[in-house]
Amino acid sequence: SKTYEYIEVSKQDQLGLIALNRPKVLNAINRPMVSEILDAMESFETDIGVRAIVLSGKGRAFAAGADIDEMANDNAIDFELRNQFKDWDRLAMIKKPIIGAVQGFALGGGFELALCCDLLYSADDAEFGFPEVNLGVMPGAGGTQRLTKLAGKTKAMEWLFTGKRISAREALHHGIVNQLISKELLMEETMKAAEQIANQAPISIRLIKEAILKAVDTPLNEGMEFERKNFYLLFSTDDQKEGMQAFIEKRKPHFKGK
Ligand code: CAA
Repeated sequence: SKTYEYIEVSKQDQLGLIALNRPKVLNAINRPMVSEILDAMESFETDIGVRAIVLSGKGRAFAAGADIDEMANDNAIDFELRNQFKDWDRLAMIKKPIIGAVQGFALGGGFELALCCDLLYSADDAEFGFPEVNLGVMPGAGGTQRLTKLAGKTKAMEWLFTGKRISAREALHHGIVNQLISKELLMEETMKAAEQIANQAPISIRLIKEAILKAVDTPLNEGMEFERKNFYLLFSTDDQKEGMQAFIEKRKPHFKGK
């Protein structure tokens, strides 16, 4: 298997695990780290043994943002020519479910990465926020868009104008995270939740994810049509026959992902 410099990658049962691994700088996200994350995500995406991806951070933070040292001297044209955020667009194309576990800080680019997860479990002491305004910039990897769609304009304006921290409890209240878990149990409980999803019919999970993401930026009637087609498509899977047959026979289904 590949070795990575800025992340740690492993497999456990049906889960693909990615842990940000620059703990000395609170997992500050540099460009090679983003490429590594995408490389690992895309190999899990095509690995039939992997049914869900768990993303976490090593050390005391999930990630304290984009690497400020790396970009301090950049100018606008450097960003344009590098097409800085193309890897983030690839992240949004991953079709397998991504389950995030956040402890400590999830700031700036770290918060944006967390917002790319499909489900988010948070230690009860986690702190989220977009401090970019304090650096004379703003989020560039989806922060203004994804946070606003999740929590609404009112709180997004407040949080992005002030750069203040959002506690885990507030994040829960505003629908940014699914559940708060004590720091000690965070990984264990996140893995349990991910296992549960990994045991569901994989094509159902895949098309549900696709349809929900569609709902986020599609008018209702278009989204309805999209949902319907995905619903029809599931009737061409063996797992649909198995799932319904198992119900009729009053036994547990055995899903194969076909
Ligand atoms: N980039 C580079 N290095 C970082 C970093 C970052 N985003 N965040 C933390 N570090 C480094 C610190 O420089 C420090 O390194 P040294 O030990 O070599 O000095 C180390 O990580 C530990 O950090 P602190 O000593 O500062 O730890 P703390 O507990 O006192 O404070 C913190 C923690 C409040 C998160 C503080 O580190 C901080 O404010 N970090 C920056 C947060 C930030 O502004 N993030 C947004 C970045 S911009 C962005 O993300 C743009 C985008 O949308 C793409």
